[in-house]
Amino acid sequence: MNKDFSELVKTRRSTREFSGENIDDNTIQDILSIAAYAPSSWGGHPVEFIVIRDRQTMKELARCKQMGAGPLAYGDAAIVPIIDRRKLELWVEDAAVASTYILLAAEYYGIGACWIHMKDRRGHTGTAEEDIRELLHIPEYYGILNAVSLGIKKRELRANELRPTIHFECFN
Ligand SMILES: Cc1cc2nc3c(=O)[nH]c(=O)nc-3n(C[C@H](O)[C@H](O)[C@H](O)COP(=O)(O)O)c2cc1C
Repeated sequence: MNKDFSELVKTRRSTREFSGENIDDNTIQDILSIAAYAPSSWGGHPVEFIVIRDRQTMKELARCKQMGAGPLAYGDAAIVPIIDRRKLELWVEDAAVASTYILLAAEYYGIGACWIHMKDRRGHTGTAEEDIRELLHIPEYYGILNAVSLGIKKRELRANELRPTIHFECFN
């Protein structure tokens, strides 16, 4: 049975170690069908997704950022959310919300996922964004915030135990 929402959110962890098993294309489609419902600035639902399943391209995508992008090489799929920046000022926020939906939807389907940040990070020849743009033929006017690696989890990680800092009525 699928986890209820509270359990799902509280047990989700970033997955960086994958079993090597395959995710079927329909599950990726299902994850993106959920991400499409992410709230967006001006209600434009502007996020488009590049889905990468080719292992060689995934390895090259991981190399687009100098550090911390390893999971992209070892997962079974990678998703790069992109947004036409000409249409929206708040593209970073829109990409971030959609990416969060991807992480939660992946967890819902029992798939491990990890956000790999790209914006303002160093790549190998230029910035990570420039390297990805070249690798995936993304036009200049599309913003690239991050990529998400997806794969079957090698093991379940212990859930975080987190308590929010809450200020009642005003900062105190
Ligand atoms: C904005 C943002 C950027 C992140 N960048 C990376 C990254 O480049 N590489 C990586 O392995 N994890 C990255 N993560 C995942 C975080 O490291 C992870 O969410 C955090 O350590 C909390 O762990 P948890 O997701 O397992 O709860 C990023 C997460 C966010 C939200």
